[in-house]
Amino acid sequence: MENEKKKVIFSGIQPTGCITLGNYIGALKNWVELQNDYNCLFSVVDLHSITVRQDPVQLRKRCVDFLVQYLACGINGEDNLVFFQSHVPQHAELSWILNCYTYMGELSRMTQFKDKSSKHADNINAGLFTYPVLMAADILLYQTDLVPVGNDQKQHLELARDIAIRFNGIYGDTFTVPEGFMPKAGARIMSLQEPTSKMSKSDPNENGFISILDRPDAVVRKIKRAVTDSDNLIKVREGHDGINNLITIYSAITKKSNEEIEAEFDGKGYGDFKMAVAEAIIEELKPIQQRYDELIKDKAYIEQIYTNGAKIAQSLARRTLSKVHRRVGFVDRKF
Ligand code: TRP
Repeated sequence: MENEKKKVIFSGIQPTGCITLGNYIGALKNWVELQNDYNCLFSVVDLHSITVRQDPVQLRKRCVDFLVQYLACGINGEDNLVFFQSHVPQHAELSWILNCYTYMGELSRMTQFKDKSSKHADNINAGLFTYPVLMAADILLYQTDLVPVGNDQKQHLELARDIAIRFNGIYGDTFTVPEGFMPKAGARIMSLQEPTSKMSKSDPNENGFISILDRPDAVVRKIKRAVTDSDNLIKVREGHDGINNLITIYSAITKKSNEEIEAEFDGKGYGDFKMAVAEAIIEELKPIQQRYDELIKDKAYIEQIYTNGAKIAQSLARRTLSKVHRRVGFVDRKF
């Protein structure tokens, strides 16, 4: 973070399920490309994850695992801030304050809240409802300029902007109003089993997603089982979601255009194409898995990365939070 003039990027992934090929293509791969041109903060957003019940032993392990996978995917943890959200208490503090500048009506309109409360009808907790306010705090705390998010988070980002504008309107300029940074449309990876819905890292059906830690035999098996139709044509067409999704994956990894892919597999069938997709994935994941296998053993290094990340993040967060305290009218802290 030496160069203060670089724009600030914040993004995070919830430590639930496992990091999928969808997260990798839709988020992490882009983060890696952005990291040299921006001041980046990449957080494992553990506070968000407990809006749905988590097993403590698994959560702790998964949090470290996610952070290591960020690094294994090529995020440079020394030039960027890579940390656990819960290690920077200012997220929760700002979140409380922003709660008081967010309306029930706004939160009730969030489609993710509606989805999640129908999925977890036995645990519609207040955290699930105010989840987008915590996300706004994540972003606004660092005077973030750009937030790389997928389509499903657009509404939350819009709310973060509204909260920032509202607060600035009442108290004068306090927060940078963040912009979204949407990956190309092609980068939206769908479930292998239900290609009309997004590849989900919490999908109970393991065949629906590929974890970035899936070894070659699992990749081959899952791609072979991926749902396609029966007409055996490798061509992007409306309504042919299964094959379209495989083409998207192949294109995202090989950087070939749809036309090039269609030409490459002209006259060939799904069997050949699926093998090519599986091989491309295996090759892409191989170096990530090698780095993961090495890093996960190096506890001291991992600890150093996330401790240092959180310390610097805290110092940035404190600046914003004390500005907010002054604006709101809290007495200056003398210690
Ligand atoms: N809500 C995001 C998701 O589920 C994760 C997230 C939390 C996030 N805080 C954020 C993403 C801040 C971007 C910026 O995908």
